[in-house]
Amino acid sequence: MLNKYGYFHINAINNFAGSTLKNDGGSVNVQKKISNHPFNGTPEQAAKLEAVINANKHDKSLLMAVMQEAQGIYGYLPYEVQKMIADGMDIPIEKVFGVSTFYAQFSLTPKGEYNISVCLGTACYVKGAGIIFDKLSEKLGIGAEECTADGKFSLTACRCIGACGLAPVLTVNEEVYGRLEAKDVDTILAKYQ
Ligand code: FES
Repeated sequence: MLNKYGYFHINAINNFAGSTLKNDGGSVNVQKKISNHPFNGTPEQAAKLEAVINANKHDKSLLMAVMQEAQGIYGYLPYEVQKMIADGMDIPIEKVFGVSTFYAQFSLTPKGEYNISVCLGTACYVKGAGIIFDKLSEKLGIGAEECTADGKFSLTACRCIGACGLAPVLTVNEEVYGRLEAKDVDTILAKYQ
């Protein structure tokens, strides 16, 4: 499941794409990668998670609900948090990893100050969203579901956000950018640097 690069493969997991999406000009490698950012959980967060685990550990079928709560507490699900859940609920860590990597709603990496989310829905994809994604990836030096070392930018891929008329579309936090071309990437990044 976890390969030598620390990646979890999510083909057949992801609701919008397999592990690699391709169009005419590019491909997007959509994999989940365990965060290599130092874990900075606080005692308060640990206490909250412990309370959630204690309230739910009698029923292993509540694993996903606990993970959802944990993500709400920490913002993502680093290895340390998944281990706490596995130990607390007496569930094998492999099973917790299996869930966190299967469902697109779970993030294994922290979000940056600016989270750039590129829509890879059909309308955006056929209009070159993959090329835009690749350019962002190259400029930022990170892949899908990763965060820059300074914590400034994270890069994600998302499904249709309902703005197909503006395809291809990306968002930076709540801000929407549409009818994009690859050359727009530099301008957008410059706004946040
Ligand atoms: S496919 Fe991208 S907004 Fe609909």
